[in-house]
Amino acid sequence: MAELTPKQKEVMDSFINEKPKILVASGAKRAGKTFVFILLFLMHIAKYEGQGLSFIIGGATQASIRRNILDDMEAILGKELKLNKSNAVTIFGNKVYCFDGAQSDSWKKARGFTAAGALLNEGTALHDMFVKEVISRCSYKGARILIDTNPENPAHSVKKDYIDNDGQTLANGRLNIKAFNFILFDNIFLDSEYVESIVASTPSGMFTDRDIHGLWVSAEGVIYKDFKKDVHYISQEQFENVRHKIVKWFAGVDWGYEHFGSIVVLGKTSDGTIYLVEEHAAQHEEIDYWVDIAKGIKSRYGNILFYCDSARPEHVRRFRREKIKALNADKKVVAGIEEVGRLYKLKKFFIVRDAIKRFDDEIYMYVWNEKTGEPVKLWDDVQDAIRYGIYTETRPQNRKGE
Ligand SMILES: Nc1ncnc2c1ncn2[C@@H]1O[C@H](COP(=O)(O)OP(=O)(O)O)[C@@H](O)[C@H]1O
Ligand SMILES: [Mg+2]
Repeated sequence: MAELTPKQKEVMDSFINEKPKILVASGAKRAGKTFVFILLFLMHIAKYEGQGLSFIIGGATQASIRRNILDDMEAILGKELKLNKSNAVTIFGNKVYCFDGAQSDSWKKARGFTAAGALLNEGTALHDMFVKEVISRCSYKGARILIDTNPENPAHSVKKDYIDNDGQTLANGRLNIKAFNFILFDNIFLDSEYVESIVASTPSGMFTDRDIHGLWVSAEGVIYKDFKKDVHYISQEQFENVRHKIVKWFAGVDWGYEHFGSIVVLGKTSDGTIYLVEEHAAQHEEIDYWVDIAKGIKSRYGNILFYCDSARPEHVRRFRREKIKALNADKKVVAGIEEVGRLYKLKKFFIVRDAIKRFDDEIYMYVWNEKTGEPVKLWDDVQDAIRYGIYTETRPQNRKGE
């Protein structure tokens, strides 16, 4: 049996002794939530060995189920888990069905099932109706449900419907819901240098509260809390001294007419430091204007990539007709902000002060909307162009080893 962290032992004790119907592990990324749940889920399936019952694993996508659950499960079982055509696999003589649960119609996959247990991975990435359907399908005697999740907005259904009901009992006195909070430091098996580097690179404010301390906090106030003019602004002359280190140029594009449209030019060094060297921002300009700007950039930096807002496909097509290498940007808002914020925190993103104007107006006005958990859509135009450029170029899946 694997050695457990003290927090994982607490969770296991609760599972074995208190026997909650629904057990929730909420908290920081990499804190050891999924690992202990995989063990508990296998223990639970083993109790019904050879009975041919159904169990459910739910995750956002089949790929995330493979990455987060099945790979670790294979390592624990010491055997390969190959899904059949209906995405099921036999474990201890029972059928375990893997369902992707992110879409509004995902719940239909679990319809009609009678399951003896479920493991739901990354609860906030699942559709609420899917979570509720799976729970209601777990009607076999002694069925148990395990939900692991990262924190998000405190208004999220995973928080309100389960975590906030920690300790709730059923009419017969049985514990219905038990919830545990994990922090990054609970995982004592992580290398201390690795933990230190995560702490050092996690943006201050909401991201640190959620990703390190596992807290369900809403986003509030200024978005880039680590941005400081005396750190992140550099002069043209300072930039000229490091210009030779740039290994790749690229651009970010946010279309706008009533709002400002914006194109920024970014340069990246081999160690991943990024410099913003040109900002173009204007209101009430037609696409011809932006084509001219892009052609000017191409003449100065070569045939570079332009990561574009995909909301105006006709503009992206026009760029391509003009022989500008336009690609649709990855527009994931919170993940993109986290990536740009990470670079500010690490002091790996610098802005040439003489090259910008609108950026300086925006940077402290760019704030979270507490209700939606997304930025207020004002003072965001150059910020969006930067985010499209940086996130599409450097998003974690492009980084080796993540
Ligand atoms: N008790 C343990 N023994 C060995 N490795 C562990 C243990 N708990 C967690 N890990 C490892 O730590 C990493 C993060 O754990 P994981 O459960 O995936 O975190 P979370 O689900 O909270 O993001 C994984 O690589 C996992 O295999
Ligand atoms: Mg996990």
